[in-house]
Amino acid sequence: MDAVNHQFRLAARPDGMVKREDFDYVEEPLPELADGQVLVKILYISLDPAMRGWMNEGRSYVPPVQIGEIMRAATAGEVVESRSEQLVAGDKVSGWLGVQEYAVCDAGAVFKVDAQSVSLSKYVGALGMPGMTAYFGLLEVGAPKEGETVVVSGAAGAVGSLVGQIAKLKGCRVVGIAGGPEKCAWIVDELGFDAAIDYKGEDVGEALRRHCPEGIDVYFDNVGGEILDAALARLARGARVVICGAISQYNNLDSMRGPSNYMSLLVNRARMEGFVVVDYMGRMAEAMGEMGGWIAAGKLIAKEDVVEGFEAFPEALLKLFAGENVGKLVLKVGAEG
Ligand SMILES: NC(=O)c1ccc[n+]([C@@H]2O[C@H](COP(=O)([O-])OP(=O)(O)OC[C@H]3O[C@@H](n4cnc5c(N)ncnc54)[C@H](OP(=O)(O)O)[C@@H]3O)[C@@H](O)[C@H]2O)c1
Repeated sequence: MDAVNHQFRLAARPDGMVKREDFDYVEEPLPELADGQVLVKILYISLDPAMRGWMNEGRSYVPPVQIGEIMRAATAGEVVESRSEQLVAGDKVSGWLGVQEYAVCDAGAVFKVDAQSVSLSKYVGALGMPGMTAYFGLLEVGAPKEGETVVVSGAAGAVGSLVGQIAKLKGCRVVGIAGGPEKCAWIVDELGFDAAIDYKGEDVGEALRRHCPEGIDVYFDNVGGEILDAALARLARGARVVICGAISQYNNLDSMRGPSNYMSLLVNRARMEGFVVVDYMGRMAEAMGEMGGWIAAGKLIAKEDVVEGFEAFPEALLKLFAGENVGKLVLKVGAEG
């Protein structure tokens, strides 16, 4: 195929907030396919807070993206050429193909998905990493029981909006913490949360006392910082705190704030546990089956916030840190054939 490929490669390690200059926008000819390889036209690129961490030097749960490398990203797309028996042109696939318009890869580097019953973009959202994060983080680490009170921060985002809805499906009382009255109204009115706390407009500690009179049984933390401390101060006996993320701290590398109310864990015989979704990849089929069933049955709303255009990648990524997304932020880079 005689097409050129555009890519965003890491140009520099960000100092604080990510900037467009931290990436190089590169144009390259597409390489020839070797036996066993496929050419994938990428249609959707997942925009994730974790991308900020992958741009840093240093040890994490995955190696950092190296300077000059294509920025790491989960993607969904369509096979346009195949030299593998596993996939044919027209197959829809998902995989970690990076921030580029096309990818040449081994057929085994992607997996074929059913884009008939749910839209392809869901495979980077509710049926991709954010969905698996919500499902396993809540059900395995948070282990909520019917009737318990679950509080989730980042509640109008990709992971948080699913966590709250799954907790409702499991018979819990759910309180979401999100920024702004529109997001708070959305999680209560559309997603069925029992209550919402607007951390930008009210005192989170006071609101948690009001909405969780018996304390918090499961706190699913996406944001860290002051909100984590406020939740720790309100734990019920035997509470589980799921450390999923700390987006409020990702751009403050020199002064990352840790929890100061951790003695609440002792007083309440509670547990706080870090969680990384990659540890559950062997069980993806189980989660995808159940989540897909809930979506098809109209029991789970998997809202997407779609930004169009490949070149918008750096600015679109920043929307996560400005709180401008509602639901899963996705970059749409091509139309389905
Ligand atoms: N452990 C894992 O395996 C794993 C896997 C996937 C994701 N994660 C983590 O899960 C969290 C949510 O990810 P996501 O993909 O679902 O993103 P998201 O929630 O869709 O988007 C990020 C949201 O974070 C909120 N936010 C930004 N800055 C904030 C601040 N200073 N204080 C409080 N909230 C802030 C914004 O919402 P508001 O408008 O409400 O502020 C924004 O919309 C992230 O921390 C991410 O790193 C962890």
